[in-house]
Amino acid sequence: MCGIFGCVSKADGAAKIIHESLKRLEYRGYDSVGEATIFDGRIHVKKDQGKIDEVHKVHNLDDLPGSVGIGHTRWATHGAPSRVNAHPHLDCEDKIAVVHNGIIENFSELKAELEGLGHIFKSKTDTEVIPHLIEENIKRGSSFIEAVREALKRLEGSYAVAIITSLEPDKIVCARKESPLILGVGEKALYCASDIPAFLPLTNKAVILEEGDVAILQHDRYEIRRLEDWKQIAREIQVIAWTPEMAEKQGYPHFMLKEIHEQPLSLRNALRPQELYMDLMATFLDRAKNVFLVACGTSYHACLAASYMFSKLAYLPTYPIIASEFAEHVGMAVNIDSTILAVSQSGETADTLAAVEHARNRAATVLGLTNVVGSTLTRVSRVYVLQQSGPEIGVAATKTFTAQLLVLAQLALRVAKLRGKVSHQEVKAIEKKLKEIPDVVERTIKVNEEKIRQIVRKYKDSRFFVFLGRGISTATSLEGRLKLMEIAYVPAFAFPAGESKHGPISLIEPSVTVIFICPRDRTRKTIIGNIMEMKARGASIISVIEEGDEEIKQLSDDYLEVLGEVPEVLSPIAFVVPLQLFAYYMAVEKGYNPDMPRNLAKSVTVK
Ligand code: M6R
Repeated sequence: MCGIFGCVSKADGAAKIIHESLKRLEYRGYDSVGEATIFDGRIHVKKDQGKIDEVHKVHNLDDLPGSVGIGHTRWATHGAPSRVNAHPHLDCEDKIAVVHNGIIENFSELKAELEGLGHIFKSKTDTEVIPHLIEENIKRGSSFIEAVREALKRLEGSYAVAIITSLEPDKIVCARKESPLILGVGEKALYCASDIPAFLPLTNKAVILEEGDVAILQHDRYEIRRLEDWKQIAREIQVIAWTPEMAEKQGYPHFMLKEIHEQPLSLRNALRPQELYMDLMATFLDRAKNVFLVACGTSYHACLAASYMFSKLAYLPTYPIIASEFAEHVGMAVNIDSTILAVSQSGETADTLAAVEHARNRAATVLGLTNVVGSTLTRVSRVYVLQQSGPEIGVAATKTFTAQLLVLAQLALRVAKLRGKVSHQEVKAIEKKLKEIPDVVERTIKVNEEKIRQIVRKYKDSRFFVFLGRGISTATSLEGRLKLMEIAYVPAFAFPAGESKHGPISLIEPSVTVIFICPRDRTRKTIIGNIMEMKARGASIISVIEEGDEEIKQLSDDYLEVLGEVPEVLSPIAFVVPLQLFAYYMAVEKGYNPDMPRNLAKSVTVK
């Protein structure tokens, strides 16, 4: 995920401060780095692809002159990692420099408009529209601050930005919308950064900017205004008592918990997939004779859920296949008329890439969904889309799973529209629900966390766990089981609830806990039957229910609620969240480090 930093100080030496602060943002993951300072009426820039130390070795980041500057670590989204795509980005006359974290959704329209007005773009990034928009506004008579305000108002999507100009060399203007931005208030300087750790050794006084805030920093003062009405507002200064290690995790004890809490944000980003590529993918899926959804582990669970989405929304049958089984299972059935949608967070999983290779050798069309620009999957796919989750550091996939589901749901909806399988009203209704999902997840985390922290104590000695769901919730139960097994080392099973009577029920006895996934969909009645069967055999029952489902509450020993009405096809996104928290707190309760489960790697690059 990109990191931004800005420094306005009285004395020279901003570049070194920025360099050191960017080092403290390295944990966010990045592929390129850059800095810009103002000195002698000019903007000075150094930037390149590579790690900070490598770029510093070649370019000496510290010898940029001046007391005001901005810096950036880039995690590529629009445009491959390269020197030209690295931030800061400048206007045509090199008078305005911008660093940005987020996604400008309407950048193509803005770019076309600005190119029509004679602006020359150098990079493939969405960010570069910002300095050119500001430049254009200044040309038309606005002051720098007005020009920034007018430009921000035209941006759709998410941003945290820091902007400097040689026209007013004593200041930084920064602003946020859906991407974090924090001010650091030091004695000799003011800072802005994506994260508190960036400035923590310099000052422990922080001002957390809120949605729609614009801050203007000068070395000895700052003001914060609302973008909307330009009213000046006061925000409280908070004294941060974190250790540097805590600061990297934003105060959370583990990256996994931080990433679970990041889901409202990563889901909002997943609601902005690249339109053109999504449409292309939908066309390929619609025209294919057979569609295989291929992945491993958590990503396979996303594929399994997606197969229900494609079927229910678009009446498109698809075959979810575990990548390591692909060649053996369906290899001979793949041909020029097949389309393979490979899903891989890292884009580097060896089994998934092997399946893709097999499919390519049989002339099939390969589509990719991944989180990593420039990964092998992006290179071997005919078309790919990015899920925009930012780097995930915990080995257990959490925010990347829910983001994959959200992108896949949007894709299924597009195929449905192409095929004319859903009415205009249904499309509108689902689109509305898609937009509400980040808030549902936010509320669900809030309402369950403390409860889960308590109930894991009660269940920690269960002999084993069984996760049961029906329909699309089968995927949710498999994912809940995987989370619990991989980080808390608890034996667990999961299968469609209907299968229990065909064998596994013989294992059930009072020392077993069964976790039921119970959205209010058409499987609810039969799930109630399964709950009764398990209760009758003495198992403890935990149910994950939609808020206010009194009937299932009464049948359960404990329940976890999803706060909001979620349509069936989107239910795994919300219903998996309590299961992620359950696994996390169970691992902590048992004294394990959930970020580094034994024997596992984040990306499995061997077959
Ligand atoms: O990077 P990928 O999505 O291809 O990784 C696939 C699996 O290795 C991965 O989802 C794994 O199962 C999770 N880290 C488990 O939480």
